[in-house]
Amino acid sequence: MELVIRRGSLKSIADMVNALRPHRVAVITDKRVATLHLEKLNGLEYTPLILPEGESTKSLTFASMLWEKLLDAGFTRKSVIIGLGGGVITDLAGFVASTFMRGVSLLLAPTTLLAQIDAAIGGKTGINFRGKNMVGTFYLPRYIVIDPDVLHTLPPEEWSNGYGELVKYAILSRDIHGAVMRGSGVNEDIIERCVRYKLSIVNQDLKEEHGIRRVLNLGHTFAHALEKYYGYKIKHGVAVAQGLRFSALLGEKLYGFDPADVDALLMKFGLDGCIPFKPIELLRAMRNDKKFWYGKMTLVVPVEIGTVKVVDVEESLILRTLGEMPCSQG
Ligand SMILES: NC(=O)c1ccc[n+]([C@@H]2O[C@H](COP(=O)([O-])OP(=O)(O)OC[C@H]3O[C@@H](n4cnc5c(N)ncnc54)[C@H](O)[C@@H]3O)[C@@H](O)[C@H]2O)c1
Repeated sequence: MELVIRRGSLKSIADMVNALRPHRVAVITDKRVATLHLEKLNGLEYTPLILPEGESTKSLTFASMLWEKLLDAGFTRKSVIIGLGGGVITDLAGFVASTFMRGVSLLLAPTTLLAQIDAAIGGKTGINFRGKNMVGTFYLPRYIVIDPDVLHTLPPEEWSNGYGELVKYAILSRDIHGAVMRGSGVNEDIIERCVRYKLSIVNQDLKEEHGIRRVLNLGHTFAHALEKYYGYKIKHGVAVAQGLRFSALLGEKLYGFDPADVDALLMKFGLDGCIPFKPIELLRAMRNDKKFWYGKMTLVVPVEIGTVKVVDVEESLILRTLGEMPCSQG
């Protein structure tokens, strides 16, 4: 797998793909990204497959529509699929590339901060089927091309999703924490540190078989439960931010972690607000999270910046901690 992180790198995709001498090339993207950034692939001959924006596009309906279009256009195993867009597109394009003809070459060009530092990294593909990401594959792209310049067109609400993951990385890695606290925003250097950190974890445990990848779930069991509680109508990044604060409070109780470190990070990225919830109902939603193996409440808890532990936590402690959070109701 080749990783390119460079301003303006979308314009190099044509050369990269042409060098592979593909039989055919398809670009899977959504309407908004097509309008804003598709022209940067000038010099490449491709079939554009432009889909509606939004989470509901990550479905079997659109996957099978794409398989049909590829078959109709005579695509073969020697073809290349490019996924240009946010996490919805990189997940769906990855899924289609991994299944079409048992797998064709894939190039991912993520265009949201969340996709650049998270969704496009690590080989997980998927569609929503009776539940979020219930069907998918592990499939590594041949190229990941990250062009930080495309983020200039990202609307403010999409930044918060990426910031949630960025703060997570800053808790997991001392090195990212330092870079984030020193800097005044997101730049190429910070994106690269996050990508390399995620790859360093994923490379030890690609298929989530050894538990190593679990550290990447920091804050996410809470976040998934809160998203479910609100019928997926709240922003993922905001839910993750609140989940990180919950993890920090647990860390304080179990290991003397200082939650002020997390509060400072959240404040820096404007993620210091919170969404109200009833602790007992949130606990119920957390119990259903697929990350609870064998009924144990296994959570990722920070010990200090740069160190976390994956531990089984008593439900009574979880409930007490939920009750102490700023937005808990009762
Ligand atoms: N595979 C993984 O490991 C993994 C990890 C995290 C998240 N995900 C998945 O990622 C998805 C969420 O991704 P997302 O937050 O990127 O959402 P998204 O793909 O829906 O993109 C959000 C919006 O931003 C627009 N957009 C994208 N790039 C833009 C740009 N440069 N300028 C202006 N607008 C732009 C899109 O058109 C869309 O409307 C979820 O489905 C989630 O499950 C996957």
